[in-house]
Amino acid sequence: MRSEHLSIGPAGPTFYGQTLEQHLLERQRRASGATGDFTGLFQQISLASKIIGSQVSKAGLANILGLTGQVNVQGEEVQKLDVFANETIVRCVQQGGHVCVMGSEEVEEPIPVPPQYPTGKYVLQFDPLDGSGNIDINASIGTIFSVHRRRTAGSGPGTLEDCLQPGRDIVAAGYVIYGSSNMFVYSTGDGAHGFTLDPAIGEYFLSHENLKIPERGRTYSVNEGNYHKWSPGVQRWVDWVKTPQTDRAAYKLRYIGAMVADFHRTLLTGGIFAYPPDTKNAQGKLRLLYEAAPLAFVCEAAGGAASDGSRRILDIEPTQLHQRTPLYIGSRADVEDAVGVIAG
Ligand code: AHG
Ligand code: MN
Ligand code: MN
Repeated sequence: MRSEHLSIGPAGPTFYGQTLEQHLLERQRRASGATGDFTGLFQQISLASKIIGSQVSKAGLANILGLTGQVNVQGEEVQKLDVFANETIVRCVQQGGHVCVMGSEEVEEPIPVPPQYPTGKYVLQFDPLDGSGNIDINASIGTIFSVHRRRTAGSGPGTLEDCLQPGRDIVAAGYVIYGSSNMFVYSTGDGAHGFTLDPAIGEYFLSHENLKIPERGRTYSVNEGNYHKWSPGVQRWVDWVKTPQTDRAAYKLRYIGAMVADFHRTLLTGGIFAYPPDTKNAQGKLRLLYEAAPLAFVCEAAGGAASDGSRRILDIEPTQLHQRTPLYIGSRADVEDAVGVIAG
C-alpha cells in the first residue's frame, strides 16, 4: 500500500472552531437588549453536562471503586447516576442568578432557588439523565433541557405556573448526548447547532452548524415489543412502515431505548422516532416538559416535526409538571405519514 493511502489528514495541527460560549456570545451581540443572562445560564448548563459526562464515562469504574455497601473510597455514598445528574444541574444553575425556578423529571415539585441566591428571569426544566437504563450496558444516554421566560409578575421566586408553559414559548432547548463522543445540541429557534466535546480541553466546539433533518428518512424507531398493547391505528402504521410499498422499500428499524440517542440519530439521518400510547401507558411514556417539548423545539428548528398524533407537540398547554404525551417526532414527511395512517 502506498503511503498516501495511510494519510489521516493534513500534516500539523488544525485550528479549533468556535466554542459553544463564543457561538452564544456572537448571537447575543446580534440580539438587541440581551443582558448576558442567557449566556450565563448556558455556561452553567454546559458545566453541569461536562461534570455529568465525566462521571458517566467512568460509571463502570465508579462501581468497581465504590464498595458494595454503596460507599465509595472517600467514604461518601455512591449516588445513582440520575440522582447525581439532577443534583449537579441544580447546584450549577441555582447559584448563577439566572433562573427563578426549575423543574426536573427526578423531582416531584418545582425546584425553588435557595434564598441565599439571587433569582433571574428564566425557567429551566430538564431530564437530567435520559435513558438511564443504558448506563449498565455502556450505551448512549443524555440530558435534555428547555428554557422559558418566567411568566408570573415580579422578580421573586418562580412558581408552578412558570413551569407549565407550552413548548412554543420555549426560548432555548437542547440536549447533551453522552456517546462515543459527547455532543451538546441546542436551538434558540433559529436553527439547531451541534458542538462536540474535546475532552482533553474540556470545551464544546462547533461541529454541526445549522443541522437540517432530511425531509424524509428510511428508519423508524419504536419499542415494537409493545405491539400487542397498541391501538389498531398504531399497529397499522408500524405494519405499513415496515412493509415495502410500490414507491419505496421497507423502513429499517433502529431502537436504542434512550430517547436522546434515538432522536439524535433521527435528527442526523432522518426518519421517525415514536413512543405511542398503549394499554399500559394511555398517554405514552415520555414527559411533555422534560422530553417531548424540548426535542420537538430542536426538531422543528432543524426543519422537522413533532406530533402527539393529532396536535403539534409545541402547542400542547401543560396542566401538570410530569404530564406524559404520545410522541411522533422526526422528518416532516414521516411524521405526517404516521399521523395520517394512525388516524386511518
Ligand atoms: P428516562 O431514563 O429519563 O426515564 O427515560 C427513558 C425513556 C426514553 O429515554 C426512552 O425513549 C424510553 O424511556 C424507552 O422506553 P421503553 O423501555 O419502554 O422502550
Ligand atoms: Mn428520559
Ligand atoms: Mn431521566
